[in-house]
Amino acid sequence: MKEFYCANSEETEKLGFAIGQTASEGDVICLSGDLGAGKTALAKGIALAKGVPEEDITSPTFAIMNIYKGKDADLRHFDLYRLNRAEELDDIGFDEYVGGCGITMIEWADLFPEEMPEEYLQINISVEKTGRKIVLEPHGRHYEELCEKVEALVNSGN
Ligand SMILES: Nc1ncnc2c1ncn2[C@@H]1O[C@H](COP(=O)(O)OP(=O)(O)OP(=O)(O)O)[C@@H](O)[C@H]1O
Ligand SMILES: [Mg+2]
Repeated sequence: MKEFYCANSEETEKLGFAIGQTASEGDVICLSGDLGAGKTALAKGIALAKGVPEEDITSPTFAIMNIYKGKDADLRHFDLYRLNRAEELDDIGFDEYVGGCGITMIEWADLFPEEMPEEYLQINISVEKTGRKIVLEPHGRHYEELCEKVEALVNSGN
């Protein structure tokens, strides 16, 4: 587990950028935290690192899923908040996307824990008095390595 503190949304975006620089094809990133915690801000940083134009990146709260074209990889950005039942995930082809080619980011993944793959990066964002505490929790060897690289990147100040 790696813990970070982000004083404002720019810092959250920067941490997302470091995660994006480290993430590769097939990675699944689950984002948890209260309404307005900063899940979309973090996802934006990840997408920016992959070369997605800033204006393309929006919250998928109503669309449920956005697809972004990055330089080398596509990204899928889910927000499951408005889904009521796991079966609705089938309707949007969730299984075909997750862990397939491209990078998948899932806001409110914790609403459907049994639908997540065996291995993924869990990110928990909690609101502090000022700023946010952001905890990276790797599930699986690949994601443990990813977390080490993210920490090294953040510490190197890039
Ligand atoms: N350290 C911080 N990191 C991220 N956002 C912050 C931070 N401090 C304040 N904010 C504010 O919190 C809000 C985060 O909004 P964002 O849409 O990213 O949240 P979210 O977790 O995706 O919410 P939702 O559950 O509605 O999708 C923004 O208004 C942002 O300016
Ligand atoms: Mg959001």
